[in-house]
Amino acid sequence: MTLPLVDMPAKDDPGPGLARLVAAGPLVRMRVPLVGPMTFATTHAACEAILKDEALFSTEVAHGRNRRIAWLLRLMPRNVRTMTESMLQKDGAEHRRLRATVDGAFRRQAVAAWEPRIEAIAAGMLEDWAASEDGDFMRHVARPLPLAVICEILGLPREDRPAFTRWMAALAEGGSPRGLPRLYLSLTRMNRYLMARFAERRAAPGDDLISVLVHAAEGGAGLSDDEVLAMLGLLFIAGHETTTHLVAGSALTLLRHPAERARLAADPSLSGTAVEELLRHVGAVEMTKPRYLTRDAEVFGVPMKRGQAIMAHLAAANRDPGAFENPHCLDLARRPNRHLAFGGGPHFCLGAWLAKAELGAVLRLLLARAPGYALAVPEADLAWTGQSGIRSLRTLPLTPTPRRGM
Ligand code: HEM
Repeated sequence: MTLPLVDMPAKDDPGPGLARLVAAGPLVRMRVPLVGPMTFATTHAACEAILKDEALFSTEVAHGRNRRIAWLLRLMPRNVRTMTESMLQKDGAEHRRLRATVDGAFRRQAVAAWEPRIEAIAAGMLEDWAASEDGDFMRHVARPLPLAVICEILGLPREDRPAFTRWMAALAEGGSPRGLPRLYLSLTRMNRYLMARFAERRAAPGDDLISVLVHAAEGGAGLSDDEVLAMLGLLFIAGHETTTHLVAGSALTLLRHPAERARLAADPSLSGTAVEELLRHVGAVEMTKPRYLTRDAEVFGVPMKRGQAIMAHLAAANRDPGAFENPHCLDLARRPNRHLAFGGGPHFCLGAWLAKAELGAVLRLLLARAPGYALAVPEADLAWTGQSGIRSLRTLPLTPTPRRGM
């Protein structure tokens, strides 16, 4: 059986492309830059089943047999390869051992204690945005917020944030051949910096997350230095671009749906369902990491070989009419809403509560202080990056109040 080869959905208006993916599913093939043709699950039921079945679908790269991925990994310097050793690339007991070291810091209650601080940080950034000349919501709010929050949780000093901003920008561009040298260099510098902070906390522990990891390294979990680096790298990488593009994509989506924006501004009690619906509709994280078959098996009627890879196309699953009524419609009061924006199964996003708290704070403040915010440029001028896997705007110029003539 040959799977249909489908085009990637457009970034600016993904609805029609996502509808095509679901209709051609449950499994399709798409070309991924650098990697080549890849199999994707595109329906809600197929994505959920694959993500939950850890026995058949492994996240460990060693199970893969895609020669291009193996070749790309061999080319990587050690510091980049360390990142492929994070919990996201481990199964079973090994995954649970690593996840247990940081789980407590990201539970609902732990995140709730951070909410006033998140709100204060977001409020300062919204003031900067409103007073800025360029009005770039991406630069003043969506990019710095997740970085500031995770730096505070880890206990990293404020004055070191500009360096992190540079390193993170290099990591975000690292997916392209031109960006690779900068990525290597930035990762080396970031790792050196993080190991120095780790050594400091070893000597004098505090109540921050780095001290928790020091304790895990020296206590029962026995984390190695490489595992600590992979963990910290994962927290920065998994939590940064994802939240940035959820926040920016949500601000734009509300602009494109004025009636829903007015509904939320008039009724802040919708905030909880609004955050879930924006996660579903914006589709910032388009797909999961690959899952490799641990044995030959028939997957949704398609015979597949051990080592073959499948990725769950979460943005498509979130527009599946089999799982959501009027899937392309934005309904900020939608209930139930079993979206898969954070994935599913054992690798369900660790930072889900944190990401929701950050988006919730930005929406509350934005709609209270600038309910009539508007685009500062014609919509056709908005530039999306071509990055695969993440639906990302380059900039988002907004004005707190509508401009005359726009
Ligand atoms: C809009 C925001 C976010 C979205 C949409 C998102 C989405 C996801 C998804 C889909 C996965 C599963 C990947 C897979 O199964 O291959 C994941 C895993 C993960 N996310 Fe997030 N994420 C977000 C924010 C965050 C934040 C703020 C953090 C932490 C600071 C974080 C940390 C992680 C970690 C550590 C994992 C791996 C969990 C594991 O392997 O057990 N994420 N995320």
